[in-house]
Amino acid sequence: MKKIVIIGASGHAKVIIDIIEKRNEYQIIGLIDSYKKPSQKIMGYPILGKESLIPELMEKQNIIGGIIAIGDNWSRNKVRDVIEKIAPKFKFLPAIHPNAILCNNLKIESGVVIMAGVIVNAASTIKEFCILNTNSSLGHDSVMDHFSSLAPNSTIGGHVNIGAFSAISIGATVIQNVTIGMHTIIGAGSLVLKNIGNNILAYGVPTKKIKDREIGEPYLAK
Ligand SMILES: CC(C)(COP(=O)(O)OP(=O)(O)OC[C@H]1O[C@@H](n2cnc3c(N)ncnc32)[C@H](O)[C@@H]1OP(=O)(O)O)[C@@H](O)C(=O)NCCC(=O)NCCS
Repeated sequence: MKKIVIIGASGHAKVIIDIIEKRNEYQIIGLIDSYKKPSQKIMGYPILGKESLIPELMEKQNIIGGIIAIGDNWSRNKVRDVIEKIAPKFKFLPAIHPNAILCNNLKIESGVVIMAGVIVNAASTIKEFCILNTNSSLGHDSVMDHFSSLAPNSTIGGHVNIGAFSAISIGATVIQNVTIGMHTIIGAGSLVLKNIGNNILAYGVPTKKIKDREIGEPYLAK
């Protein structure tokens, strides 16, 4: 089996480890994390060290690539940039749970994570490094631009566009034909009935703009 690493060591990483174990296609040799102490174990796998270790792991241990297991959309992008620079041959793999239901003609790009219970309907596109979390659903003819995410139980109608780096939070619903801009956060439990622009925090039923947001502003509690 080809050897890989998981980048990140949070709860999100644990869910991704479970997906990789269930698919049984790659051997995880350990986790890469800049904050947790090396030697600590997560789900039985050691934390090996920081991103800077990756070139050496590729050379000496035949690591072919791995999965970025970081839930925050902007942080995931920053870590991808670092790895791409120091290890250009590192393969960013997808992690797709065997119990996700995906339509036949779906386009899925590199680094995408799709968890248990997800349903993606016909003619949708999921660009690089998106996350579709547990039980979320994406309607037909919809597009998730790169580094965007659906939190657990979020429901997206048909012909919806979700901009790059935007996050639809837990339990939110977006009706059909809506466009959500880039770097926008739709809060938990929202009902989105109309288009929402770039760099906005919005929530509520129906969803209203609460404030403008800075690129990279945190939106997930630690
Ligand atoms: C949108 C979000 C980021 C706002 O967080 P925040 O800015 O820290 O907001 P606060 O918790 O400080 O709350 C501020 C006020 O807004 C209200 N509020 C916050 N989020 C709300 C939401 N989604 N819907 C309605 N009201 C909300 C709070 O009740 C509070 O009201 P109050 O001042 O009257 O008490 C947060 O609600 C959210 O959705 N986080 C993402 C959760 C998620 O999807 N996790 C994924 C797990 S995998």
